[in-house]
Amino acid sequence: MAANGNPQASLSEILEKVHAIFAEELQLDPSAFSNDDDLSTGLGLDSLAIYSAITEIEDAYQIVLNDSDISGISTISGLAQLVFDRINGFVSSLSSEADTQEREYHRLTDFAESPEYLGLRQRMAETFPEGFNPYFVPHDSLIRDTSVVNGKEVINLGSYNYLGMSGHPETMQAAIDAIRKYGTSASGSRTLAGEKTLYQQLEKAIADWKHTEDAIVCTGGWATNLTFLSSFMHDGDFIVYDALSHNSIAEGVALSRAESKAFPHNDLQTLENILHKVQDKYNKVLIVVEGVYSMDGDIAPIPEFVRLKKAYKCFLMVDEAHSGGVIGDHAGGCDDYFHLDPHDIDIKYGTLSKALGTCGGYIAADKEIVEYLRYFMSGFVFSAGISPPLAAACMKAIEIIRRDNSAATKLHENIRYFVRRCKEEGMNTCLAGESAVVPVLIGSDQDAARLSAELLDEGVFVPPAMYPAVPIGESRLRFTISATHSIEQLEKAVSSLAKLMHEEGFLK
Ligand SMILES: Cc1ncc(COP(=O)(O)O)c(C=O)c1O
Repeated sequence: MAANGNPQASLSEILEKVHAIFAEELQLDPSAFSNDDDLSTGLGLDSLAIYSAITEIEDAYQIVLNDSDISGISTISGLAQLVFDRINGFVSSLSSEADTQEREYHRLTDFAESPEYLGLRQRMAETFPEGFNPYFVPHDSLIRDTSVVNGKEVINLGSYNYLGMSGHPETMQAAIDAIRKYGTSASGSRTLAGEKTLYQQLEKAIADWKHTEDAIVCTGGWATNLTFLSSFMHDGDFIVYDALSHNSIAEGVALSRAESKAFPHNDLQTLENILHKVQDKYNKVLIVVEGVYSMDGDIAPIPEFVRLKKAYKCFLMVDEAHSGGVIGDHAGGCDDYFHLDPHDIDIKYGTLSKALGTCGGYIAADKEIVEYLRYFMSGFVFSAGISPPLAAACMKAIEIIRRDNSAATKLHENIRYFVRRCKEEGMNTCLAGESAVVPVLIGSDQDAARLSAELLDEGVFVPPAMYPAVPIGESRLRFTISATHSIEQLEKAVSSLAKLMHEEGFLK
C-alpha cells in the first residue's frame, strides 16, 4: 500500500495508465504520441482537454493535483512522475521538470526578434491569410442596434450593450450633468483624495439591486476580478474555479497566493470530490463560477453550487458579467433567475461595461467583506476612482432597469427569435438558450475570421471568437443580442449567415 492508501503502483504502470488516459481524451491511437511529447503544444491539446485528463488521473489515484503542482509539467513522463511521487508521499520531487533542467537564456535587445513577437506574426499570417484582420475594427458611432464601420451603417451583433443603456437619453444626460458638476476624472484614489458622494450613491444602488449589504466599485471589470481574487484569497486559502472561467478570473487566481485548482466546466461531481478531499485543509475555500459563460452562452446551475458551498463550508463567488442585467424576472441576474436567498452567493461580481452600459467593475457582498476591500484591495486603493460621468450613467442605468422591465422583455424576445432561427437553419449554437450570448460554431480560426469579414460586407458585424478564448477547432461567430435590435435586423443577420454557410459547405 502506498502512503495515501493507494494500491502500490510502479512508475511504469502509472506511465502506461496516464498515457492511456491522454489517448482516450485525444481520441488517438496510443502509439501516435510519446511520453515525452509536449502536452500543450506538441499534442494539440487545449487546456480544457488537459483539465479533463487530469481529473481522470486524480480519480484513478484518489489524489488532488493543484495548479501549482502541475505548472511546469509539460510531458506525460513528468505527470506520471508527479503521480508516483504523490501516492508514495515523496514531497521533495513535486518540483517541476523546469526546476531540474538547465535553463538556456538568449539575451535580446530588439523585441522585433523575440520569439513571442515572431510567434504573434506567424499566427497572424496563418490565421488571416487573406489579409482581413477581424480585430480592432473601428466603429465610429454609438453602438446600439447598428454602428458605423468604414463610413457604412451595419447591424451590430457584437457589442455588450444588452439593454441599450449606452446611448440611452437618460444615461447620457446623467453623464453630462456629472461632467458639469465633477469634471471628467476622479482626480485621485478614492481612499485619499478622489472620493465623491456620487460614488457612494452608486455603490448603494448596486448593493440594493444585488440585495447585498454593501458594494465597491473599481475602474475596470477585468481588473476588479484580478484585484479582488488576489486581495481576498491568501496563503493558506484555496480557490477552486470552473475551467471555462474568463481570463480575468484565471489571472486573479494566478496572482493570489492561494492554492488553486480548476474543475471541468460545470462538473459538479468533480467539484464535490475536490471539496471532499480538501475539507480538513485551508482557512478559506472559494468556489468561483460565472452566471453566464461568455463563449458558450450557457447559464450555470448556480443552486447546485450553492448547495456545495453550504455543505463544504466555502465561499461562493459568481461572475455576473453576462448575467447581471440579462437573466431573471427583472434582469437582476442569477439570484433573480433562480429565486435565491440574498445570502446564497457570498461574492457577486459584475462589470459595468455590459448591460449597465459604462465601464468598471463591482463586488457586492456583506459589509465586512466590502469594508476590508476598501482598505486592502490594491486595485482599488492604489488606483484612481471611476470617472464621474461613468458612475452617474451607471447609476441611472440601474434606476431604469429597476423601474421598467420593457428592455429586458424585448431582449428575451430577441434572444428567443435569434436562437430559434439559427437552429431552424441547422446552425450549431453551442450551449446558447436564454442568455444574450449566442455563438454559432464554425470550426477553424481561418473559417470563422473569413465568415466574419464576409458578413461585414453584407452589412452585419459579428466578431469571431478564436483560440485561446475557445478550444482549438471550435472557433465560432459570437453573436451578442441587444434589446435595441429589431426582428428584421436579426432575420437579416441569420439569413445572410445561412446563405454564406450554404455556399461554403458549412450547411447542407
Ligand atoms: C465573464 C467576464 N468577466 C469579466 C469580464 C471583464 O469585464 P470588462 O470587459 O468590463 O473589463 C468579462 C469581459 O468580457 C467577462 O466576459
